[in-house]
Formats: sequence, structure tokens, C-alpha cells
Amino acid sequence: ATPENFFDAVGGEATFRKIVGRFYAEVAKDEVLLPLYPEKDLGPAEERLVLFLMQYWGGPHTYSEQRGHPRLRMRHQPFTIGPIERDAWLRCMRVAVDEAGLRPEHRDQLWQYLEMAANSMLNSWV
Ligand code: HEM
Repeated sequence: ATPENFFDAVGGEATFRKIVGRFYAEVAKDEVLLPLYPEKDLGPAEERLVLFLMQYWGGPHTYSEQRGHPRLRMRHQPFTIGPIERDAWLRCMRVAVDEAGLRPEHRDQLWQYLEMAANSMLNSWV
């Protein structure tokens, strides 16, 4: 039998939409992160993060069909991401992940990845 992947095990698309929706509700209130989104419409950014995370965890590859190779470090170069921005991002994401109702082992696995990914996006030391 094929083991169920992480994407299916946590509830598929609905779970990723819930987490990222909650994350962006926090971003909308965050004085460090909000200025990084001059468009003010967070909807398109929310959709890109949903699609990326679904693909990363074994769901459909819609992200790469629409955006190509993720190259996330390169795509974040236009934004100054220092420890303050990273911490703000993780603070918003923590709320979202904690409220998602995942089983502890799934929550911990997801969180470990998000912390690693946020650290890998650092491109400034101030
Ligand atoms: C895009 C900020 C970490 C995934 C963006 C954008 C900003 C941003 C301002 C542009 C919004 C847009 O898509 O129009 C940050 C900050 C981070 C961070 C301040 C702090 C560490 C991460 C992490 C991930 C991620 C850890 C993945 C786990 C993405 C994706 C996009 C994006 C998928 C859209 C890329 C594209 O297709 O253009 N981020 N980000 N970001 N971010 Fe982040």
C-alpha cells in the first residue's frame, strides 16, 4: 500500500487554505510585514503561498504550472528580510499553524520546515 502523503494526511487543499488565510489575516495587522505589500491587496500573494505549500507537501503542482520553478530566495531579493521580518513572518505563521488543529506530529513537522524556510530567506542582517 502506498503511504498517504503529508498533503492528504493533513486534509488536503482545505487545510492549506485555512492556514494561509489565517496567516494573511495576521499579516494584514502586522506593522513590520504589511509595508512589504504595497499593492494592499493581499489576495494574490495569499494564493501564491497556498499553491506553493500545497505543491511542496505533495499536492497538485499548480504553483509551478503558473509560476515556474519556485526559486524562493531569488523571488525574495526585492524585499529586505532581516531577523525582524523573519520573526514577524514566523509569529504570523505560528498563530495560523496552531489554530489549524493538526495532529502534533504533523504540526511539528510543518513548523520545523517553516522555521528552516524562513531562515533560508534572510538576505539582510539588520
Ligand atoms: C512572496 C515576504 C518567507 C513563500 C513574498 C512576497 C513578500 C514576501 C513581500 C511578495 C508577495 C507576492 O507574492 O506578491 C516574506 C517575508 C518572509 C517570507 C518577509 C520572512 C522570512 C517566506 C517563506 C516561504 C515564502 C518561509 C515559504 C515557505 C513565498 C512565496 C511567494 C512569496 C511562494 C510568491 C512567490 C512568487 O511566485 O512570486 N514573500 N516571505 N515566503 N513568498 Fe515570502
